[in-house]
Amino acid sequence: MHVYTLPMRKKLIAANWKMNQAPAGWQEKNSPYRPHSIIDIVVFPSFLDIWNCLQRGILIGGQCGRAEPGGAFTGDVSMKMLKEIGCTYVLCGHSERRQYHHETDEDIAKQATAAFEAGLIPVICIGENLTEREAGDEKDVVTQQMQTLSLDGEFIIAYEPVWAIGTGKNATAAQAQEMHALIRSLLPSHLQSTTRILYGGSVKADNCKEILEQADVDGGLVGGASLQSEAFRAIVETAVN
Ligand code: PGA
Repeated sequence: MHVYTLPMRKKLIAANWKMNQAPAGWQEKNSPYRPHSIIDIVVFPSFLDIWNCLQRGILIGGQCGRAEPGGAFTGDVSMKMLKEIGCTYVLCGHSERRQYHHETDEDIAKQATAAFEAGLIPVICIGENLTEREAGDEKDVVTQQMQTLSLDGEFIIAYEPVWAIGTGKNATAAQAQEMHALIRSLLPSHLQSTTRILYGGSVKADNCKEILEQADVDGGLVGGASLQSEAFRAIVETAVN
């Protein structure tokens, strides 16, 4: 008899340090930012800290990358450069890039394609803003964001409702699960059971348990709480258990 078992989706907890200094204690031997034996831990530091973090064996992603491999784009780095320095992942379409750098769904689709070509795993961020949530349009928004992507390689989706980012107001576990299940259903069918979908938006030690327990939540993208190593350690420990 043929027994079919679903491949396991290993939990992933990501620290997005944004434009902040590396948190105190990050370089210590038992720091929670270092690779873990049971779950994946990834850090997205500022570009200036990437090299130091890599030297300590931390698994790293770039916070953004440009689709073009090189050229006259002052202030930017390319996906190719991120790969060459030793990044494994790259964030594509974080809401702060969409807001402050006017990145569109089309730009983000191009970045994801460039990440695949460079051999990086894009962590593609999607999610509705407060006006869209209040109008009941969150599913349409996320569906539109998903449909622009051409998913041809290993990738991760991060569902980050914009109204929950940095506001202290997280989605409930039920809201997260509902959106994650929708996102999973929008993936190409052969990738539905294996693709990891992270939740992001005010993830903290005291609210992450219920969210991380949801069937379609495979980890978290943590901003503010990743800047204090003990708060981040508590989230990692919750994910492990
Ligand atoms: P937050 O940020 O945890 O501070 O809400 C999450 C993110 O921006 O990825």
